[in-house]
Amino acid sequence: MARTTVHVCSECGAQSAKWHGQCPGCEAWNTLVEEAIAPQKAGARGRPGARTPRPGGERAPGPRQAPTPLREVGSSPVSRMSTGIGELDRVLGGGLVPGSLVLLGGSPGIGKSTLTNMVLGHLAQSGHRTLYVSGEESAEQVRLRAERLAPGALQVPVLAETDLDEVLDTLAAEEPQACVIDSVQTLGAADLSGAPGSVGQVREVAARIMEIAKSRGIAVILVGHVTKDGALAGPRVLEHLVDCVLQFEGERERPYRELRALKNRFGSTNEAGLFEMRQGGLVEVLDASARFVAEATRAPGSVVLAAMEGSRPLLVEVQALVAPSELEHPRRVVSGLDRNRLALVLAILSRHGRVRTGNADVFVNVVGGVRVDEPGCDLAVALAVASASRGVPIRGTPRGCFGELGLTGELRWVGHPERRLEEAAKHGLAGVIAPPDSGGAACEAATLREALALALGSGPEDVRARRLPDLSTSPVTLVRDTPEPVE
Ligand code: TYD
Ligand code: MG
Repeated sequence: MARTTVHVCSECGAQSAKWHGQCPGCEAWNTLVEEAIAPQKAGARGRPGARTPRPGGERAPGPRQAPTPLREVGSSPVSRMSTGIGELDRVLGGGLVPGSLVLLGGSPGIGKSTLTNMVLGHLAQSGHRTLYVSGEESAEQVRLRAERLAPGALQVPVLAETDLDEVLDTLAAEEPQACVIDSVQTLGAADLSGAPGSVGQVREVAARIMEIAKSRGIAVILVGHVTKDGALAGPRVLEHLVDCVLQFEGERERPYRELRALKNRFGSTNEAGLFEMRQGGLVEVLDASARFVAEATRAPGSVVLAAMEGSRPLLVEVQALVAPSELEHPRRVVSGLDRNRLALVLAILSRHGRVRTGNADVFVNVVGGVRVDEPGCDLAVALAVASASRGVPIRGTPRGCFGELGLTGELRWVGHPERRLEEAAKHGLAGVIAPPDSGGAACEAATLREALALALGSGPEDVRARRLPDLSTSPVTLVRDTPEPVE
């Protein structure tokens, strides 16, 4: 029988009939990926780099396509299907685009199947043809979930299948307008010998589904699993192929879930949507700021951060705990923030704020399982740690803050100060500590020291003079008047 697959090195492109641990071409390890050999089309033209160039390299006869100036290229407005879930529509850039491929990644149990079930349910109810392909669960299991969701979810036709060819045949026969493949790692092409979920299989599955999706205008959501280190398993290779990559994040034990766009050909990648997992499925959280502000503890170590989630302001509580450590290398534990960012803020606090935590364990947490990925969170982390370290609450809590810390101890301007201040004012936070040029309503501070004086100063004279409070009462803080020279 003629060979239908070949193993190709992802580093150098060398081909081999058999799989090897080490590439025979470039000697890289674990780079050979099985691929199907595409059948040669009759009259296929040789192109530079093609494996079988035409003899003599002459061009095949036929009309040459002339390049067209962009302004003359016809464009039709992108029509979008609303998913019925406002937060998801916003993250997608306005809804699902027919013929597009969306990769939805997330760890197990986060709610990917629930979200995609709900999307198809809404679309089915608004009169669209839908199809749910489940490779992970049986049709009965999918039904059990759908029973918990809105009534439309039970209208969705389901196909429990793991064979790619069967799925493609069904797609061709049914021609749904929207289809969910749950998950891309469970489908397998029979002509590849690799197990479903291997890089070769995942790539083949996605490429062949894309072919049919583009030709028939089917909007496809591919569900993908995330590995322990946070990357989409295997499907890194899919990121360039699909039109949109969505990441569903959150902690399984907590109700809040965040949906972010990592790549979007039809919209911005700044948007994020917030959901809550309830008994009847995922519910959009529209008043997140109000909730987080109401829940803020106002105790030492707590501060409200006016953050930006894409184009939307969000008030979240940042909490810190500073406790004497028994360890040679004290702990630095963060949740909802970048660990390196904490290390940086602690170094700046020590050097420019006279708050030393070298012999203490430091824990910082963004409350509610929300993740804050922006430089504007530096000041909140610094104030929370300083407040926890001293054991006194921030003056005038709940009091918002935002700003990036520079390495020389200055407070730097961050994007959208007016929207952050507006959101803070809307939820009753006055005297938001912010970098210079943030706008009239802010309590501006040019440096970390000034911000500390505003937040922790013991009396009005401290604040007026923007004087750094005496932190010597702290059990774990070592205070020096002059910064230690660096050897
Ligand atoms: P699921 O969507 O199956 O997660 P994934 O496909 O990402 O692995 O379900 C996630 C969890 O949500 C599951 O443990 C049960 C829970 N859940 C609810 O709390 N309420 C609901 O209405 C549904 C459908 C699920
Ligand atoms: Mg699932």
